[in-house]
Amino acid sequence: MKNSKIILLNSVIVVCAIVVIYACNKDKTPTPVLPCDPNKTYFQRDVLPIVISNCAKSGCHDAASAKEGLVLNSYSGVMKIVKAGSPSGSELIKVITTTSSKDLMPPLPNTPLTQQQKDLISKWISEGALNQTCLADTGSCASTTVSFASNITPIINTNCVGCHGGTNISGNINLSNYAGIQSAAASGKLYNAVAQNGAAISMPPSSKLSACDIKKIKTWVDDGSKNN
Ligand code: HEC
Repeated sequence: MKNSKIILLNSVIVVCAIVVIYACNKDKTPTPVLPCDPNKTYFQRDVLPIVISNCAKSGCHDAASAKEGLVLNSYSGVMKIVKAGSPSGSELIKVITTTSSKDLMPPLPNTPLTQQQKDLISKWISEGALNQTCLADTGSCASTTVSFASNITPIINTNCVGCHGGTNISGNINLSNYAGIQSAAASGKLYNAVAQNGAAISMPPSSKLSACDIKKIKTWVDDGSKNN
């Protein structure tokens, strides 16, 4: 083969490889921004866990059920119902905020998203609906005291309550109030589930909390899982 042909062939191979790698990487977790900007919302940290725990459930929008052809467990899945920069033009916002009970998502009798969760998703769309994540500065993760109200409740509300609250008490574990969370903590299941160490069923089912969040849960449990 002539040199020029070999070069051409090599170029074609390189281009194909790039296309394949790009296609596979589309939903890869992006490299974290460090530290987190407190005024910004980050898709992977803030939005995706809410969508997964409220929408990507069995019978709804998990990969097996895919109602309406929608699998809402990844950035590309969620972007099918999002118009970057326009919350009002985004189907996602329409269905979570509608006053029509027949169009509302998640459908009744599921618990609707909280106003805070709706506002957060809206803000993310206004900010351009980017696929970003960030790492909390080590200071906030290394803290030795963990409070139930300010550290544990937000983690559980974002990542767990969609499947463990309201009308969905999966596995008979209710994580929508202190009593339920405390009881899961006391049985050892709360930490084992989020640590995904094999001693309990891994939770959340299709993802894993950040190392920092797992550490906060461990600190709180080890400290007697107080209502502080
Ligand atoms: C998409 C739905 C979903 C989400 C989100 C979810 N869970 Fe679960 N969880 C389940 C289901 C379903 C079961 C019951 C599994 C079974 O029995 O096979 C379960 C079971 C559990 C159990 C019992 C485990 C055991 O070994 O008995 C614990 C503890 C638990 N979940 C904690 C959590 C925590 C903490 C979070 C958030 C960090 C969470 N779950 C998020 C669906 C979910």
